[in-house]
Amino acid sequence: MDFEESQTKINLARAFAGECQGGARYQFIAQKAMQENKKNIQMLFKTLAKNEMAHARVFWDLIAKHAKKPVKNIEIKAGYPFEDAEITQMIKYASNNEKSENTTIYPTFAKIAEDEGFKDISDKFKKIALVENDHFMLLDELYNKLKSGELYSSSTPYDWKCSNCGHTELLNDAFNTCPLCEKSKDYIELDMIKSPRK
Ligand SMILES: [Fe+2]
Ligand SMILES: [Fe+2]
Repeated sequence: MDFEESQTKINLARAFAGECQGGARYQFIAQKAMQENKKNIQMLFKTLAKNEMAHARVFWDLIAKHAKKPVKNIEIKAGYPFEDAEITQMIKYASNNEKSENTTIYPTFAKIAEDEGFKDISDKFKKIALVENDHFMLLDELYNKLKSGELYSSSTPYDWKCSNCGHTELLNDAFNTCPLCEKSKDYIELDMIKSPRK
């Protein structure tokens, strides 16, 4: 199928727009977290924003790679999230968006790309969907822990790590103040995905 006539070209443009907006929304959350001195949430969302911008770049490059002539403009019609709220609710919205990307939107785009004969594009949609699933799981767990007030507690000993100085301590409940650099617990790394807490 000719790329210019394909649905995949439109889907790449939609995905590009979605990733750019996702990256922007995550930077807004990072700014909000910075204003509230939630250093670890700020850092987490900076990293997520960077990931989304990298996804945008992948889609951008795929359009350029497959187009036969330089692309000037692509018309798209789609809905994008504009929800605004305090940080915890924003995390919920973000986790919902990640979920719909990795369970519905990108698998659908991957299938269409495959059907239209663009195997390389289909693979990228699938790979990005896996990252969005990681994002979803991380944000979902973060939201649940913020809601239940258990962000800094664990039923089994957990390696709490200060992101400022690297001090790590195996405890059920995290230290309130880092015993090494004396930063607050707002500096404790949020990496639930790598070592899930029970
Ligand atoms: Fe993304
Ligand atoms: Fe994501």
